[in-house]
Amino acid sequence: MDLEEIKDKLKDIMEKNRYEHACRVSSVAEQIAEYYNLPIKSVKISGLIHDCAKDYSDSHMKSLIKKYNIRLNEVERHIPKIWHAYVGAEMAKEVFQIEDQEIVDAVKYHSTASVKLGLIGKIVYIADKIEPDRNLTKIKKLWPLVYKDIDLAMLELLDQELEYLISKRLVVHPDTIGARNKIIIEKGY
Ligand SMILES: [Fe+2]
Ligand SMILES: [Fe+2]
Repeated sequence: MDLEEIKDKLKDIMEKNRYEHACRVSSVAEQIAEYYNLPIKSVKISGLIHDCAKDYSDSHMKSLIKKYNIRLNEVERHIPKIWHAYVGAEMAKEVFQIEDQEIVDAVKYHSTASVKLGLIGKIVYIADKIEPDRNLTKIKKLWPLVYKDIDLAMLELLDQELEYLISKRLVVHPDTIGARNKIIIEKGY
């Protein structure tokens, strides 16, 4: 599927606001990918489709989880807001005919993060949170860091996410902790 076909399909399945968010994430991801010399098309596609399943109703989401035979563990069953990432990864393969595992993983782990995230996945995770509509001062401060040290930018965002989850006393997915630990251990921050 080329980019225009993907966009047409997304317009069918996403609400207008969400589709616009996807386009902004895709273009932010593209900017970062250019800087890091990554395959632009893969990054743009990952950004475009990352939330492809997010507008489905609860019942439709549950039927897709069943259809794709996605086995949610106990923690995942407690975090419905991450389900769209797992369903989206299956749709990437089935609906958008993506064979590149790095794109599939970028979609699958854009919500929780994971030790499995490659550079494309990290860029999508970051772009999702710093796209221009997210106008917070602490987010704006992250922009220069993305170009200076992408892992440190990722770590900042993971810290913010964990602080939020803890402040609201919400369940934390182990993949989020794993992603954060990996960066600290490997980079020695
Ligand atoms: Fe999402
Ligand atoms: Fe998103």
